[in-house]
Amino acid sequence: MDKDLVSIIKDAASQYFRTVVEIRRDLHAHPELSFKESRTSERVKEFLSQLDIPFSEGWAGYGIVASITGHHDGPIVMLRADMDALPIQEENDLPYRSVHDGVMHACGHDVHTSSLLGVAAILQHNREHLKGVVKLIFQPGEEKLPGGASIMIREGLMEPVSPQWILGQHVYPSLPAGHVGFRKGLYMASSDEIYITVKGKGGHAATPHLCIDPILIASRLVVGLQELVSRNIDPLSPAVLTIGRIYSNGGATNIIPDTVQLEGTLRAMDETWRFRAHQLIRDFVDHTCKASGATAEINIVIGYPSLQNNDQVTSMCQNAAIRFLGKDKVHELPRRMSSEDFAFYTLEAPGTFYRLGTGWVDEKLNYPVHSNRFNIDESSLETGMGLMAYLTLSNLSDR
Ligand code: NI
Repeated sequence: MDKDLVSIIKDAASQYFRTVVEIRRDLHAHPELSFKESRTSERVKEFLSQLDIPFSEGWAGYGIVASITGHHDGPIVMLRADMDALPIQEENDLPYRSVHDGVMHACGHDVHTSSLLGVAAILQHNREHLKGVVKLIFQPGEEKLPGGASIMIREGLMEPVSPQWILGQHVYPSLPAGHVGFRKGLYMASSDEIYITVKGKGGHAATPHLCIDPILIASRLVVGLQELVSRNIDPLSPAVLTIGRIYSNGGATNIIPDTVQLEGTLRAMDETWRFRAHQLIRDFVDHTCKASGATAEINIVIGYPSLQNNDQVTSMCQNAAIRFLGKDKVHELPRRMSSEDFAFYTLEAPGTFYRLGTGWVDEKLNYPVHSNRFNIDESSLETGMGLMAYLTLSNLSDR
C-alpha cells in the first residue's frame, strides 16, 4: 500500500523535474539580498497561481504562505523554504550565472524555493490522498538578523493553530545528490554578534607611558576572551568564540591610536550558558579595560537560537526517508556550529531541519555553501521535492 504512494510521488517528482530545474535556474540567475526578494516572491506567486493554490503575501516583507487543503480532515503542518541570496560575487561560469553583480545564491536558497514549488505541485495534485492542511512557507531574510522566521512568527504565522510539525530542508554538498541526512536533538548552534570598542589615549609610540594603548588592551581581550570557552562552559557542551575582525582608525609604526574595534561571534548549544556568557563578556571586557585606564563600549546583538530537532518528528521523517530512498541513502548528520533562523520555528512547534545531498560524485566539483563557486548537482532537486512531498503525504495520507 505504502509502496504505491512511493511510486506515485516518484513519478510526480520526475514529471515536474524539468519545470523545477527551470525555476531554480531562473532564481539562481536573479538572486536577491535578504528582505529584498521582490522578484523571487513574484515568481513564487505566479507558480502558485498556475496551480490554483491560495496564498497570503506580505509576510516579513516579501514572504508568502500558501495552503493546500486535503480532501480529508487532519492536522495543519508546515513546510518551509527560504528565498534570499548572499552578498557574494559569483565565479561560476554557467548559462544561468547570477546577472546581479555582487549577489549570489551561494547558500542554495534557490534550491529550497524551487523544490518547495515542486512539492506544492505534487501535493496539489494528490489532494485526494491528503488528510489536513499543508502550509508552505516561502520565507525572506534568512541570512540577516533578526531573521525572516522570527518576524513571520511575530506576525502570527503560528496562530491561531500551531502546526503539528514543521520541516525545513537545506542543501548539503558534503553528501552526493540522492542522499539525505537527519539528526535528532541539538543540531545547530546559536549565534550572537559581538562589537567592542576599546577607548584609550593615543600618542607617540616612543612614549607609551604617556598613552593608554588600546592595541595592547585589545590583544589582551582577544586572548582572555578564550577563557570563556576553555574555562567556563562544560567541556561536553560545544561553544565557539571567534574575534573575526580587529581594526583601528588610527595608528602607525610610530603612533599609538585612540581606539581599537573588535568584532566577533559567540556560538553555543546551551541557551542558559549563552546568555550568561554575554554578561561574562561584558564583565571581562569592562574590567580588563578599567585595569589599564581605558574604557569600553560593548554591543552584543542577539542572533538566532540553537536549533533543536524534535526526536519524534526526526525519527518519523528518517523512517519515511528510508522507505522512499533506501537505507543506504539516509545518513546521520554531525552537529554543526553554524546557525539557522529555522531554529525560531522549532521553539514554537516540533520540527526537523534536515539536509539534502547536492554534491557531485566527483568531489573536485564540490564547493562549500557561501563559496563563490558553490553549485549543485541538479538531480538533487528531484530528490528534494519528492522526499519532502513523501514525508508530508506518508504521514497525512488516507492510504
Ligand atoms: Ni542557508
